[in-house]
Amino acid sequence: MGQTQIRRRRDADMKACLDALFTVYEEDRYPARWPADPAGWLTPDGLLAAWVAVAGPDVLGHVALTRTDDVLAAGAGLPPDELASVSRLFARASARRRGVAQALLDVVADAAASDGRRLVLEVEDGGAAAVALYERAGWRRTGSRSGDWTTADGRTALLHTYLAPDRGAGKGPTART
Ligand SMILES: CC(C)(COP(=O)(O)OP(=O)(O)OC[C@H]1O[C@@H](n2cnc3c(N)ncnc32)[C@H](O)[C@@H]1OP(=O)(O)O)[C@@H](O)C(=O)NCCC(=O)NCCS
Repeated sequence: MGQTQIRRRRDADMKACLDALFTVYEEDRYPARWPADPAGWLTPDGLLAAWVAVAGPDVLGHVALTRTDDVLAAGAGLPPDELASVSRLFARASARRRGVAQALLDVVADAAASDGRRLVLEVEDGGAAAVALYERAGWRRTGSRSGDWTTADGRTALLHTYLAPDRGAGKGPTART
């Protein structure tokens, strides 16, 4: 990834994050509608941590790690406290296929595993690049459900739940020692 660095998101990164997110919205309609409070959208409920991929002043990618709600946990078939959710993952439109998203996923996977949690996420059916990314990394689809919004191409959203490969999480940090 050249000079790209992955590090925790800082408050001062927010403007550059929103610049990058806007390129993703224009290219992919992710998110499906531009939020009224985009900084808030990048800071979802239950946020545990967020990371950015940066090159100089530019944010090339972003990912958040959140607590897992009951619905998503049920889709994954594991208790919420054994899981953590990947959210708000994107790579700037001009920085694709350079390993940015994979590097961000590696960092969240390490953080979740160190807390004894296994990663889970939901991806909308139209997210072919994201599905390819997760499946190549060994994530497994565990279920699907209808979402409560309409996609940019006029469909009712269809959400697929994906569970990351088991890295020994779910036993709790103390049980692993
Ligand atoms: C999905 C997304 C984050 C991937 O970002 P990226 O930095 O380009 O992904 P990477 O370079 O790390 O890709 C790693 C691997 O994933 C797979 N992959 C990624 N994008 C792909 C695509 N468009 N088509 C097919 N496979 C793809 C490939 O196996 C790739 O490895 P390769 O380039 O050596 O073939 C990016 O396309 C994006 O921001 N999409 C819009 C937002 C989105 O859908 N977010 C996910 C919400 S759940």
